[in-house]
Amino acid sequence: MANETAKEAAKIAADKKAADRRKKVLNIGIDLGTSRCVIACDNGVRTFIPSYVGFPKDAVSRKMFGRDVIFGDDAIKHRMALNLYRPFDKGQLKHGDVPDANTKEYKDAVSIAKTLVKYLKELATEGKDTTNTTVRAVLGAPALASRVNKKTLLDIADGVLDDVMVASEPFCVAYGLKLYTAALIIDIGAGTVDLCRMHGIIPTEEDQITTLNAGDYVDKVFFDLLKKDFPEANFTVNMVKKFKEENAFITNQSEGVFIELPVKGKPTKHDVSKELRQACRAIVPEIVEGIRRLIATFDPEFQDSLKENVILAGGGSQIIGLKKEIEDYMKEALGYGRVTKVEEPLYAGANGALMLCRDMPDEYWDQIRSKASERRKDG
Ligand SMILES: Nc1ncnc2c1ncn2[C@@H]1O[C@H](COP(=O)(O)OP(=O)(O)OP(=O)(O)O)[C@@H](O)[C@H]1O
Ligand SMILES: [Mg+2]
Repeated sequence: MANETAKEAAKIAADKKAADRRKKVLNIGIDLGTSRCVIACDNGVRTFIPSYVGFPKDAVSRKMFGRDVIFGDDAIKHRMALNLYRPFDKGQLKHGDVPDANTKEYKDAVSIAKTLVKYLKELATEGKDTTNTTVRAVLGAPALASRVNKKTLLDIADGVLDDVMVASEPFCVAYGLKLYTAALIIDIGAGTVDLCRMHGIIPTEEDQITTLNAGDYVDKVFFDLLKKDFPEANFTVNMVKKFKEENAFITNQSEGVFIELPVKGKPTKHDVSKELRQACRAIVPEIVEGIRRLIATFDPEFQDSLKENVILAGGGSQIIGLKKEIEDYMKEALGYGRVTKVEEPLYAGANGALMLCRDMPDEYWDQIRSKASERRKDG
């Protein structure tokens, strides 16, 4: 009798698997970033939003928006009327210092991030009905989050995406560029800089280094320097971040870089080249130390091939002069170094995640699915 029941259960599971296989599949590469979430899908959708989620503060703001939740640029623009959240910080889900998954803080943080992922799915599917579609995603996350916090990321995707696999962002970048071997990827994001060496296999712990001084840190240093040097001027971190994104450089250029900041309400020009250069330089020492460590601890016979192929990705890779600064350092410390910037710093991670998503065989996704249902059973 027990045997019959087991047979029946196995048949139901097999039928379900076969039915799932008959469904259309939509593959999505998601780069779940601290400052931007980017998606690339095999239906041709490619887009990004700043990683902000806002909830109307009261009945008036709810009436004004006509919605219960606002995302991205809209959320930043209307932040005065919203409780505004940026779910990730320093490469991890922001939930205070509470390591316990049963706390309210953790559950709230997961719920906000889930809202964001749901919205990304809506963008990917262009709001179409997905009843007959298996929505499959590779979630590129900062290397730190993908190693330490994988369960959290799976909790975030649970119930939103049908099948999900977590991969580290720099690995996604490498995969997308078909750099499976002899390459050192440096993904300079907002919350983290992730360094990862590729040598023909999925990178392990030893192949990856994460540092926490990234784009947000540049903004903070820039903001603090401006506060110190121009105490009479009035500005926010958001304002100086925008300015940085248009002007970031670390070369020794002689012409000034000017920003207009209000002084007692009057827009006033300030030459901020010194402060901007210093702020952008602030992330370089840890990056070059990371490069040195990953090269020095690599098989000596293959070290030269890594030095040949250092790849910069992520928003921070657009700092003018960064490539040369790193090459100069490598020349001094390691004898030689060749650095290249990816062509699409914004989409490189999501593109690679999409390719990975497409390339994984059905059997692999079946395994992922049964692991996910076991996780759910275990609570
Ligand atoms: N032209 C630019 N020059 C310098 N920095 C820039 C430029 N454009 C964007 N940035 C910075 O790049 C960072 C965002 O990059 P990216 O989108 O790769 O990060 P993320 O994926 O959201 O963050 P993380 O990978 O840390 O989670 C921000 O700090 C942003 O200010
Ligand atoms: Mg990133």
